Amino acid sequence: MHIHVLGAAAGGGFPQWNCNCFNCDGLRKGTIKATKRTQSSICVSGDGINWVLFNTSPDVLQQIQEFAPLQPGRAIRDSGIAGIVLIDAQIDHTTGLLMLREGKVRREIYCTDMVYQDLTTGNPLLNILGHYCGVNHHQIQADGSTFEVAGAPNLKFTAVALKSAAPPYSPHRNDPHPGDTIGVLIEEISSGKKCWYSPGLGEIEPHLPALMRQADCIMVDGTFWTNTEMIDMGLMTKKARDIGHNPQSGEGGMIEVLNQYPQARRVLIHINNTNPILREDSAERATLNQHGIEVAYDGMDIIL
Ligand code: MLT
Ligand code: MN
Ligand code: ZN
Repeated sequence: MHIHVLGAAAGGGFPQWNCNCFNCDGLRKGTIKATKRTQSSICVSGDGINWVLFNTSPDVLQQIQEFAPLQPGRAIRDSGIAGIVLIDAQIDHTTGLLMLREGKVRREIYCTDMVYQDLTTGNPLLNILGHYCGVNHHQIQADGSTFEVAGAPNLKFTAVALKSAAPPYSPHRNDPHPGDTIGVLIEEISSGKKCWYSPGLGEIEPHLPALMRQADCIMVDGTFWTNTEMIDMGLMTKKARDIGHNPQSGEGGMIEVLNQYPQARRVLIHINNTNPILREDSAERATLNQHGIEVAYDGMDIIL
C-alpha cells in the first residue's frame, strides 16, 4: 500500500495567512527550523495507479500539482483520483471539492449520512457540484462495516464513528451524531497491510484499540501539543479535547496512547500551526523522537 501525505497541517495551514504566532512568523522570516505545510489530506493506492483521496483540502489544486500520480495521464480529461472519502464535513477537509468541479464524469464521494446532510444543507457543496460535474454519493456506514471504492482495486476500508462535534454551520452543531466524524482502517487486500487514519481524534473510545492493534501504520490527530495551547496563546477559549483533538502531551495524551502500539509506524498528522513539534529542533520534537513518533510533512510517502 502506498500512502502519500498531500497536506499535513490542520485548518489554516502553516503558515496561516493571518497568524503571527511564534511558528508562523518564524517560518515567514526564516528564523525557525521548519517547513511549510498545506491543509489536511492524504491519498492511498493499492496498485500505484488509482488513488483514493482522503478529504479534499482547500489546497487540493496545489497538492495535485505536486504529486504526479494524481494528474491526468490517460485521456483528454482524466485524474488518478478514483474516489474521495470524507472523514468529516469540516472546511479544511471538504472545500477543495469546489476546485474539482470540472469535467463530465461525476465525482465519486464516500461519506456518512451525517456528513452528506451537512454538505447538502449548512454548507451545500454537493448541491453546488451538482451544477458542474455532479456527484455520486456512496453512503459509508460508521459501524465497523467494510466498503470498497470502485476503480481503486486492492483496497478495503473499515469505518467507525468517533466522538466529535459537527462543524459550526451544521444544522446539528450542538447535537452530536455517530458519523459526524469517522476513523478508517485502510487495508491492502493482497498484502494484508493496514493503516489506521484519524486526523481528528479527541478520545480513545473502547472500540478503537482493537483496530489500532491491527495497524502497521497509525496516522492520528497531531493538532495540538497541550490541551490549552490555543487558550494559552489567547487564540481560542476552548480546550483541545473540547474541539475533538486529543493533545500529544500529558496524561492520556497521544504519546501515551501511541506507546501502546509499538508494532506500528506512528505518525502525527493534521498539525496546527501553533504546535511546537513543527520546529525540528524543539524540545517537544525531541520528545517525539525519543518515542519513535514521526511528524507528517507534505510529500511524505509511506509504503507498507
Ligand atoms: C478542526 O479540525 O477542528 C476544524 O477543522 C477546525 C476548523 O474549522 O478550522
Ligand atoms: Mn481540521
Ligand atoms: Zn500560527
